[in-house]
Amino acid sequence: MKVLVTGGTGYIGSHTLIDLIENGYDVVCADNGCNSDTSSLLAVEKITGVKVPYFHIDLCDLSGAETIFKSHPDIQGMIHFAALKAVGESVEKPIQYFRNNIDSLINTLDLCLKYDVKAFIFSSSCTVYGDVSSSPVDENTPLQEAASPYGRTKQIGEQIITDTIKNKSLKSILLRYFNPAGAHPSGHLGESPINPPQNLVKRCIFLVMIILPEMGVVYVIIYTYVILLMPIPWH
Ligand SMILES: NC(=O)c1ccc[n+]([C@@H]2O[C@H](COP(=O)([O-])OP(=O)(O)OC[C@H]3O[C@@H](n4cnc5c(N)ncnc54)[C@H](O)[C@@H]3O)[C@@H](O)[C@H]2O)c1
Repeated sequence: MKVLVTGGTGYIGSHTLIDLIENGYDVVCADNGCNSDTSSLLAVEKITGVKVPYFHIDLCDLSGAETIFKSHPDIQGMIHFAALKAVGESVEKPIQYFRNNIDSLINTLDLCLKYDVKAFIFSSSCTVYGDVSSSPVDENTPLQEAASPYGRTKQIGEQIITDTIKNKSLKSILLRYFNPAGAHPSGHLGESPINPPQNLVKRCIFLVMIILPEMGVVYVIIYTYVILLMPIPWH
């Protein structure tokens, strides 16, 4: 079975490529490189021995995105990771977030229906639950008002998918998670965003890496302030 991984050069996408390959799937990767580069694909190749077919494509461009399916009409599944994900930035630039995350989702769903893709996995987020009054949350916890435009793109995205697949052969799963962390045990692949990291665990690790080289108390205090006290988005 052939699976298209969008956002495949990004953090979660590149690790997912490895898992898919190791479990016998053929994979295709699409990404526009706005928060990653192809060094992750070199790492995937080093780890798995597989050179992943790569499309440097903005999924907001429907005809560009369709070139993937024209080259690989046998794609049967899609895992859609491609999105902008910085909570704070989404508050400053909501239109950019709505345009990118919603347009790319609509285009990929459109193509799934046109090319008879059977399975669509959406990388949603725990942020869809909004400001809940009790925890832990589970799938039955009612969604609250989104706390950011980023969160709203995930809420709207889930609704678009639910409406789109109704009475269709396309099946979907909505993955709601937050703050995934870690690197591949080989050491060849981790999290290497082009833009400054916003995730909690990534920031904490960054802090520890700065303390370790014995840089002294002053630096530790400064970096603690800069890294840990800056608003930490929940996604
Ligand atoms: N990392 C987290 O904490 C977390 C938590 C919950 C959900 N998510 C979601 O999981 C997905 C992947 O997250 P990640 O941490 O791997 O982020 P990431 O930024 O490393 O990966 C996302 C990739 O999508 C690409 N992209 C963005 N817009 C695109 C477009 N229009 N066309 C093509 N490519 C595009 C980026 O270049 C990037 O490589 C995102 O949808 C994110 O919202 C992430």
